[in-house]
Amino acid sequence: MNRRTKPYILFFIIVVVFNCNSTKKKANKLGTGTPYDAKVDSLMSLMTLKEKIGQTIMYSGGWSVTGPVVSNNNQKHIKAGGVGAMLNVYSAKGTRDLQKLAVEETRLGIPLLFGYDVIHGFRTIFPINLGLAASWDMADIEKGSRIAAEEASAEGIHWTFAPMVDIARDPRWGRISEGAGEDVYLGSLIAKAYVKGFQGDDLSKPNTILACAKHFAGYGAAQAGRDYHTVNMGEEELRNVYLPPFKAAVDAGVETFMTAFNELNGVPATGNSFIYRDILKGEWNFKGFVVTDYTAINELVEHGFAKDEKEAAEIAINAGIDQDMMSSAYRLYLEELVNEGKVDVALIDDACRRILLTKYKLGLFDDPYRYSNEQREKEVVYKPEFLDAARHSAAICSVLLKNEEESLPLNSNQSIALIGPLAKDKENIIGNWAAAGDRKGKAISVHQGIQEYLADSKINFAKGCEIEGNDESGFQAAINVAKKSDIVVMVMGEDYDMSGEAASRTNIKLPGSQTKLIKRIREAVPNKKIVLVLMNGRPLDLSEEDTLADAILETWFPGTMGGNGVADVLFGKYNPSGKLTVTFPRNLGQVPIYYNMKNTGRPIPASNPHEDYKSHYLDSPNTPLYVFGHGLSYTTFEYSDFKLSASTIGFSDTLTASATITNTGDYDGHEVVQLYLHDRVGSITRPVKELKGFEKIFLKKGESKTVTFHITVEDLKFYNSKMEFNVESGEFEIAIKGTSDFDFEHAFTLE
Ligand code: NOJ
Repeated sequence: MNRRTKPYILFFIIVVVFNCNSTKKKANKLGTGTPYDAKVDSLMSLMTLKEKIGQTIMYSGGWSVTGPVVSNNNQKHIKAGGVGAMLNVYSAKGTRDLQKLAVEETRLGIPLLFGYDVIHGFRTIFPINLGLAASWDMADIEKGSRIAAEEASAEGIHWTFAPMVDIARDPRWGRISEGAGEDVYLGSLIAKAYVKGFQGDDLSKPNTILACAKHFAGYGAAQAGRDYHTVNMGEEELRNVYLPPFKAAVDAGVETFMTAFNELNGVPATGNSFIYRDILKGEWNFKGFVVTDYTAINELVEHGFAKDEKEAAEIAINAGIDQDMMSSAYRLYLEELVNEGKVDVALIDDACRRILLTKYKLGLFDDPYRYSNEQREKEVVYKPEFLDAARHSAAICSVLLKNEEESLPLNSNQSIALIGPLAKDKENIIGNWAAAGDRKGKAISVHQGIQEYLADSKINFAKGCEIEGNDESGFQAAINVAKKSDIVVMVMGEDYDMSGEAASRTNIKLPGSQTKLIKRIREAVPNKKIVLVLMNGRPLDLSEEDTLADAILETWFPGTMGGNGVADVLFGKYNPSGKLTVTFPRNLGQVPIYYNMKNTGRPIPASNPHEDYKSHYLDSPNTPLYVFGHGLSYTTFEYSDFKLSASTIGFSDTLTASATITNTGDYDGHEVVQLYLHDRVGSITRPVKELKGFEKIFLKKGESKTVTFHITVEDLKFYNSKMEFNVESGEFEIAIKGTSDFDFEHAFTLE
């Protein structure tokens, strides 16, 4: 090297190193360190750019009773190696036929991935997710998703678009039904339970499926609860509240992520490189792949973030979005963008690599048809033990909101007036997003469930009204059956499609004339007990119903075996133990309302909630109707003997907190024992209460148990204004209770 060439060579080396670094940065981790890396590498070395882009494309098959409906265009794209995944296709035969096209008719024979919304069950439908959360039973949630994976995988599904781990605090938002509710800690544990259930312990087993944490990020905070709406929030709130369940899913090994439809602080999620490149693939080192939500790349144009679909494709791939669900933007423009030098081919390699890797993990390169197994399909779906599990879930998810004078449980000597549009329902009871669930008769209605406990002669049925509409022509018949029966059971609620996607409501009362019917019955039989059994996909404003009914049992949409599970609770075979994971407001004006709010500088004094110039409403209390953590039992639990191992702890200490819980009533039962903390002073303000632990225990009547929690600084950390995840010294209030409705009485200091 002579003197004149030396500077140029050095300059050249610097440029190469710099470029490599910037490409790596953009593409995050190119090498993933899995046993399949070499296989992926050698496959990718054979692939053309077009074929690599093909892996980043997903189309919908649609479905009809006779089989998957795949347009000729989709078939053409599959045969050209232009499709990596399909959604909305299932059945062993349907998926096998399609897989054949990919495996036998493409140049490289790369198998397709089949994805589907297996949200709370596949054929055997479990309670909706908000209901499942109310069980506070992680093992049950894991088991339910394991069963869903067993059934779905037997029908060719490799991948579920679940769990939805969006924190949701607005009951107007229809998708609140799909998540775990309002709490960060509980939501994070539930996210893990779903991922473990779907993915099992080994993805190469043909009964495990890929999970998908969705919708990243902030979707649950849509303004005014309107679906797809704008989200603005500080990074502190994003990191402390909305991201932790996603991080928990990553920690649990979730293989895929889905983008959200919303914009986040002005940048639509599907084009948001901060959340995908920097946080998910950077900070969290996520090795799986990211799929868009349906047509979300196209929507960057409507958002006003891209001038056309070509620019939208450029933005999305740069932001770290690996697979395009249904927008065609990647198919139409990625190659062109690479050729024009606008998209670095390393980004496409990275996306393709991530997708291929999951196919290797699933074992699809060993046997692309391993999930499409007709024999297994016949044996697995609706197995009796799956139905039993669904029945159990329906029981443990039910939340007893109110039970005056022990109106419940019912007894088999009583005659019952069974009233309401959902009493005999078999269609709505399985809820929204019910995958391949049957709405035409497979589900057990509440009426059928009650028939297991009560002779037909003791059940006097009258529908009374529809879910929606003003028709009152059935009222009189309902009044008549109420008059001739010992007790009234009214099964009411929402239509299944009043919650879920694109199902926001500005009125969260019981729809139609249902409340009016309860009033009329109350007037007609003032001295008889009225039990209201609810099915709904969101917290409702039940202020009126609370004054009219003696007992209220929230059953959400309880699923295929819902009628049995609910009847088990109504008749006391199962003593209710569900607790709300979302606040039920008194009225819509209080929304958003959640237990872990901030204190404000002018909190209302307990002694005078109406004091002027304090943070309150003129026309409503601040408190909700039913708080987070609330849920009654047929027995009573007493909390006593609260103990702390120390009043002051150091940063490396573990604090032990315990309380004794005694079953003081007449029934054996489960109790969800909850640990709450309050960081009194912080460099940024902290919520008035935060759930930090819980244990679900079983106590026979008269029995006592001591429940102990161990608290370390990890439990006290939060993101401060510099986005450092840290703990701060000071005083922390602490309590162990059966609800979030209490005032703290104990504290400890961290120094
Ligand atoms: C749109 C929904 O937002 C998403 O949750 C779902 O997985 C996809 N459609 C696919 O059906």
